[in-house]
Amino acid sequence: MRKSLIAATLAFAGLLVAGSLALAQGRALPPADYTPDVSYRLTTGLADGKMAFIGVGGEIDGVVNPRLVAEPGDVVQLTLVNGDGVQHDWALEGVDGVATDMVFEEGASSVTVFRIDEPGQYSYYCTVPGHRQAGMEGLLEIGEVAESDEEALASIVRDPADLPGPIGDREPVTHDLALVTEEVEARLADGTSYRFWTFDGQIPGPFLRVKVGDTVNMTLENADDSTMIHSVDFHAVTGPGGGAAVTQTRPGDATAFTFKALNPGLYVYHCATPMVAHHITNGMYGLILVEPEEGLAEVDREFYVMQGELYTEGAFGQRGDQEFSVDKLLDEDPEYFTFNGAVGALTDEHPLQANVGETVRIFFGVGGPNFTSSFHVIGEIFDRVHDQGSLTSPPLTDVQTTTVAPGGATMVEFGLEVPGDYILVDHALSRAERGLVGFLQAAGDDNPEVFDGNVTPGGGH
Ligand code: CU
Ligand code: CU
Ligand code: CU
Repeated sequence: MRKSLIAATLAFAGLLVAGSLALAQGRALPPADYTPDVSYRLTTGLADGKMAFIGVGGEIDGVVNPRLVAEPGDVVQLTLVNGDGVQHDWALEGVDGVATDMVFEEGASSVTVFRIDEPGQYSYYCTVPGHRQAGMEGLLEIGEVAESDEEALASIVRDPADLPGPIGDREPVTHDLALVTEEVEARLADGTSYRFWTFDGQIPGPFLRVKVGDTVNMTLENADDSTMIHSVDFHAVTGPGGGAAVTQTRPGDATAFTFKALNPGLYVYHCATPMVAHHITNGMYGLILVEPEEGLAEVDREFYVMQGELYTEGAFGQRGDQEFSVDKLLDEDPEYFTFNGAVGALTDEHPLQANVGETVRIFFGVGGPNFTSSFHVIGEIFDRVHDQGSLTSPPLTDVQTTTVAPGGATMVEFGLEVPGDYILVDHALSRAERGLVGFLQAAGDDNPEVFDGNVTPGGGH
């Protein structure tokens, strides 16, 4: 509905380019016909090593990606000045025709004049591929925006440091484990929400940790307010459906079964209620680790990360509540890719944190449902990869990128020698533009023998 209102509004919007008035949609206005109610001037440049729009003059002077405000119906004039000699423009997301021209050379400028009647938050950004992700985005607020709407959005992100500690060498035991399936409306990306389906309210579901030979009494409870039947299939289980055959659970009900963990390894679990791909994409996946007889080698830190895709009716980045698209799911045409459930989960919300000199282990799985991950950490090399989650085969050593299938997992280990931000990606890097990125922040002293970033070109240092 919002889009059609905006389109109607834009019938009255003019677009001023390089001093002459051009037609965006509808009739052109002679230059004398408008006096801007609000004027903003932005320049382009680097701020903290990232690309940015920087405010010029007034309250936004010097502010990086400033929040711009106007009242509904205001005539807004936006001037973009090229400050860095790199090609840029400025555009409003979801509002056709409201954009400047590209500015190519340092000092070049372009102006857009527009009017929006519908109150709300609109994202502005640079449309040059990659520039938005590199930092060139901000918000234009038209009228009173209920900030609480944004703040109140729940998070389904599981902290990658949230997992039980090692078991090690001990006799087999019996565990009583329980999972609760919950459907939760929560934040998918900034300004965007989605009705996720989860195990225990977070994505991925809880990291379950047992040892080979252990017996597990597993209870699955489906929350009262669920709208769907849910179930669980553990890839670590030997038995019909990995448990799914006996855990199809109606809202408000509970089911249970017992299994013995026969094979060590790192295994995916997921909901297996038809349409299974729908239940998985909505967030119903997690990992269960079956430690081998002797346990795992000691490391300083362990992390838990899972990759998935989401298929929304709205395009990536569109604000507001997003509906699931069954057509896009069947076409395997996702809008979002995520680590731990939401865009920004492992960058803004819970970056992985460690120190130089430590060894790090990442339990990494793919919920999917459809896309294989080419898992890679930019700036690091995996010292050991327990390929395909196998803990009884010797690990691969010195690996750059490892393939992880949907419904598959891997355990990677590496030492941290140099401080800085290391970036978790799927090396199918288009997906980074759709949300699939995380940070591992390594704190500590510089180690110039391994990496020296303070070298002057030509002259040594
Ligand atoms: Cu740009
Ligand atoms: Cu389900
Ligand atoms: Cu499966």
